[in-house]
Amino acid sequence: MGKKIFLVVLCLATVLDLHLANAEVPAVFILGDSTADTGTNNFLPDSKDRADFPPYGIDFPHSRPTGRFSNGLNSADFLAKLMGFKRSPLPFFYLVNNTKFIKRPSFRGANFASAGSGILNITGQTKNGLKNVVPLEEQIGQFSSIYSELVAIKGQASAEVFLSKSLFFISVGSNDIFAYYLSRSTVPKQEFIATLGFIYDSYLRTLYKLGARKFGIISVPPIGCCPALRIQNTTGGCLEDLNNLALEFHSMINTQLIKLSTDYSDMKYSLGNAYEMTINVLDNPCPFGFKNVSNPCCGDERTPCGPNATFCSNRREYLFWDSVHPTQAAAGLAARTLYGGELRFVSPINFKQLADA
Ligand SMILES: *[C@@H]1O[C@H](CO)[C@@H](O)[C@H](O)[C@H]1NC(C)=O
Ligand SMILES: *[C@@H]1O[C@H](CO)[C@@H](O)[C@H](O)[C@H]1NC(C)=O
Ligand SMILES: *[C@@H]1O[C@H](CO)[C@@H](O)[C@H](O)[C@H]1NC(C)=O
Ligand SMILES: *[C@@H]1O[C@H](CO)[C@@H](O)[C@H](O)[C@H]1NC(C)=O
Ligand SMILES: *[C@@H]1O[C@H](CO)[C@@H](O)[C@H](O)[C@H]1NC(C)=O
Repeated sequence: MGKKIFLVVLCLATVLDLHLANAEVPAVFILGDSTADTGTNNFLPDSKDRADFPPYGIDFPHSRPTGRFSNGLNSADFLAKLMGFKRSPLPFFYLVNNTKFIKRPSFRGANFASAGSGILNITGQTKNGLKNVVPLEEQIGQFSSIYSELVAIKGQASAEVFLSKSLFFISVGSNDIFAYYLSRSTVPKQEFIATLGFIYDSYLRTLYKLGARKFGIISVPPIGCCPALRIQNTTGGCLEDLNNLALEFHSMINTQLIKLSTDYSDMKYSLGNAYEMTINVLDNPCPFGFKNVSNPCCGDERTPCGPNATFCSNRREYLFWDSVHPTQAAAGLAARTLYGGELRFVSPINFKQLADA
């Protein structure tokens, strides 16, 4: 009897705790690449990096292809849900011509992430001069237009309070590293990673000046293990050079964030170690329900995922949906690890602690 009451109290406490967490996070702003894009590139008529056709979205409500590079939801969607929001924030490109959504008291953030983009302006752009992606710097420019809008609506002081409690998720860097690797650049890798760090740092400082205080940063996964890269290895193993670049990116961004939080004492951050999180699953897929971690569910070497490709039915068992992107199952696992994970995967605090901070 006594035990039962205790359990009920515990559950209630959990529910209350979630409500409190909600109240503390007024909005979520999401920046980065395809791991977080919820439809940005659909608004770029000339973009080739898109996923607004079947079988993308096969497991999304009504099997709708939305531009997400997934069979269903992506990590940005799962993070928004874990933070207590009913739905993922809308793409900036949608909001920009529907500013009534920004003006409403129920405004809960925006998504700027653009598939194929990177830290560098040139990453993901095609040589034909047509707009293929929205680079991070331009995404921040878009955020600054929302900042101005919020200041106009709420006044400077309350806009700043609103933004200081909001979360800024950024998942970027993989495409810069892909481009560097594939171009066989002669720039030494330490120099390249340092350049990315220098530019990323200046962007984070810009966001800080625009009111951001809580940063949830996701580093680069072991991209050499993507099916698209594994096929370049005769053994089918991961490409070690690419994975080493991902590791160096992580340690660079870790150092940058420590420095940044020293310079700005009211800045808080979580750094998700996408490398460690993914290797953990690759090494031991079964406990997570994965049976196939090296091949994509959709498409193969000859046919990229799209209307002409075949795709698996046991999608829950695959880590990769297409040759580069995770399945909904993998994205959900990643988001739950970022949200509640231990120090090995997310540090110095996890995303839940960041929300509560
Ligand atoms: C917003 O509306 C303007 C004017 O109608 C149009 O030129 C622009 O392409 C629209 N932007 C988006 C992202 O839809
Ligand atoms: C990146 O592009 C933007 C917009 O085109 C431009 O204003 C900015 O100067 C560029 N940044 C760098 C570092 O080249
Ligand atoms: C290919 O994979 C094997 C493991 O199967 C690894 O030892 C080797 O270094 C990889 N080759 C390259 C070029 O990364
Ligand atoms: C993984 O999936 C691919 C393609 O769907 C298949 O050819 C391969 O045999 C699978 N591997 C395992 C270990 O199930
Ligand atoms: C699918 O295959 C058809 C017939 O071979 C071809 O005409 C079409 O361009 C292909 N579509 C894509 C998206 O590759």
